[in-house]
Amino acid sequence: MTQAAIPDAPLIYTYRDLLDDGDYSEPLIANGVRCHGGFLADGSYRSPRTIHRTPAIDAWQQALRANDDDLIELSHDLLPPQYPNVEQSVLLCRNGVRDPVVRALTIISVVEGFGAIIRDVIVPDLDALLVEPTEGSSLAHLSEGLFEAHARDEAGWGDQGGHKQMWEAARDLAFESPEIPPDVLMRIMGRGRRARKRERRHPRIHEKLESMIGMMANVLIVEIFAEEVFGWGKAVLSNPEISAAPEAAAAMVGYIQTDEKPHVEYLRTALSEIAARTIRAEDGATLSGRDVVHATLHATLSQVLRNRPREQRSQARAGLDAALAGAAKPEALREEFESLETKWTPPECTGFEPATQGAVAPE
Ligand SMILES: [Fe+2]
Ligand SMILES: [Fe+2]
Repeated sequence: MTQAAIPDAPLIYTYRDLLDDGDYSEPLIANGVRCHGGFLADGSYRSPRTIHRTPAIDAWQQALRANDDDLIELSHDLLPPQYPNVEQSVLLCRNGVRDPVVRALTIISVVEGFGAIIRDVIVPDLDALLVEPTEGSSLAHLSEGLFEAHARDEAGWGDQGGHKQMWEAARDLAFESPEIPPDVLMRIMGRGRRARKRERRHPRIHEKLESMIGMMANVLIVEIFAEEVFGWGKAVLSNPEISAAPEAAAAMVGYIQTDEKPHVEYLRTALSEIAARTIRAEDGATLSGRDVVHATLHATLSQVLRNRPREQRSQARAGLDAALAGAAKPEALREEFESLETKWTPPECTGFEPATQGAVAPE
């Protein structure tokens, strides 16, 4: 039997509850743009749409624990370093070469805006596709506010900016509204066009359930990897040597980072809830939710760990030569830049290896 406490917050919320901001004493204004979230009377920042969403996620997690079910954990040791790293970015900016850092910040803001696609994920009839009921779980709230709140946080909503606008504000504060490399958007769009329809990994389960699990695993990984981006953003933008607004720009990244917490938490809760259940296969048999969720996480993580550092490097290096050419001593600067590169090799295990391979999960 379990010792975990029974959740003290309710387990069932309305769509309105999960999108509710509550009251703020002061709104968040990012470089003149009204953004989501705001400040309480004591000056602390509270993320948008979290007055009920945060206690709700806590309660669903407590319910999992009370049932002795695992909450999925992704090891932070897996995170690849940001490219260019903090030292490389500061070096370039100190030498008047800001283009690669402005480029990196712009890519981050655009990718944040893409996060709104989470609202297009189709949630199939989970009570038909899972053996155990979903009432009172985060799964029952995915299309009842959780995906929508997430989408609004990333891309903004109505007259309020979201993470896209907040990253732009951080960039523009630190670098005083720099010129944006004109090819940034084209390159990102080109990358999107190459994305192909994924092969089905679990053809026995309902296609929409498989695709929802795949999308959630992918977004969860992106959200966790963002930790590295926040550390980098704060370190670079708070450096008074190169930033025109070290406090305001780094604080902005801190607010975004705070807002990401509920994203990571509801996604890992919902995936854990599927992992704790039994999936009805299309052929009438049943499959372990854990096997499906872990296999999806393993495959997605392996792929991201292989591709992401390479992609980020090639995006950052686009235009690097042209940018360096503007420096006083381009060759010496390039040499120093290369010498500061972080050495990194992808970890051998993801922590979600199929049991049959006998792989050992990292701590
Ligand atoms: Fe975000
Ligand atoms: Fe997010």
